Amino acid sequence: MKVISTEKSQILAARIAGALNTSIVDVKFSRFPDGELYLAAGELDDETIIVGSVTDSDALVQLLLLIDACEGSKNHLVLPYMGYARQDKRFRNGEPISARAVARLFGRGVENCITVNIHEPEVLKYFDVPTTNLSLAKDMGAYLRSMGLSDPLLLAPDDGALAFADDVASVGGWDYDHLEKTRLSGVEVKMAPKKLCAASRSVVIVDDIISTGSTIATAANMLYQQGATEVYAACVHGVLIGGAYVHLKANGIREVFCSDTIERGCSRISAADRIAAALRG
Ligand code: R5P
Repeated sequence: MKVISTEKSQILAARIAGALNTSIVDVKFSRFPDGELYLAAGELDDETIIVGSVTDSDALVQLLLLIDACEGSKNHLVLPYMGYARQDKRFRNGEPISARAVARLFGRGVENCITVNIHEPEVLKYFDVPTTNLSLAKDMGAYLRSMGLSDPLLLAPDDGALAFADDVASVGGWDYDHLEKTRLSGVEVKMAPKKLCAASRSVVIVDDIISTGSTIATAANMLYQQGATEVYAACVHGVLIGGAYVHLKANGIREVFCSDTIERGCSRISAADRIAAALRG
C-alpha cells in the first residue's frame, strides 16, 4: 500500500503515510502551455490511498487526474476538505446542487471514500461509493487542552454547529453554548451566547469552516463588548479567503487555528492519525 496526494494535501498525505508506516508516491505536477493541469505519478502499488482536498476548481481537476493515474490499483480516496459542499441544496430555482455534482465525480476509480467534518453530512448520500465522515472535534479538544486555558467557554457561531462545540467541549468538560443573533434595528444586530455569559471568560469560537472570517470577527467584537477577556477562533477547515486571518487578528482574535485538512501556517491540529486509524479499519 502507498499514499499519493495532490499538491494541496502533500503535508497531510506524508503524515498519513508516516502513521501507516508506508511510503508516499513521488508525483510531478506541471501545466501544459495552455494552462491545463498535468501530472505524472511515480511507481504505484496495487493498493493506493489517494489524498486530495478540494480547495478550488484546479484542486478538483488535479484530484480527478490523480485518480485516473492510479487506474489498476485498489484505490481509497481521502477528501480531507470537500469544497463545494456548502451548496448542498437548491436554494433558488436554476441552481445546481454543487455538493451532489462533486460527490458524483468520485464514484468511479475508487473503492471507498473518507471525508472529514463534511459541512453537511446529508451530502454523503450523493457518493456512489461507501463513504465515512470523520470528526476532528476530539483532536481540537486535545489541542485546546494543551493550550492550558483556564475554564474556557466554547461557542458555536450558530445552533447548527452546537453538536460540534459539544464534542470539542466534552474533552475538557468545558462549558459550551451557541451564539444567537438578535436584530435590534434595520442596521443593528447583536450576537451573544444563548444561555451563558461571556464576561470575564476566555472564549473559543469553534466552527467547521472559517471562510472570510466575518462571522467570527463580528462575534468577537460583541463578545469583547460583553466583557470577554480573550477570544480564540478554531476551525477544522481554514479556508481563510480574502485576508481572513488578518481580519480576525485585526478584530482582536488572540489566536486563530485550524487543522491540516487545508494546509496553512496556522494548522495546529493534524487529521493524519484519525484518517490512518479509519484506513486501518
Ligand atoms: C457555515 O455554515 C459554516 O459553518 C461557517 O460558519 C461559515 O462558512 C463561516 O463563514 P465566514 O468565515 O465567511 O463568516
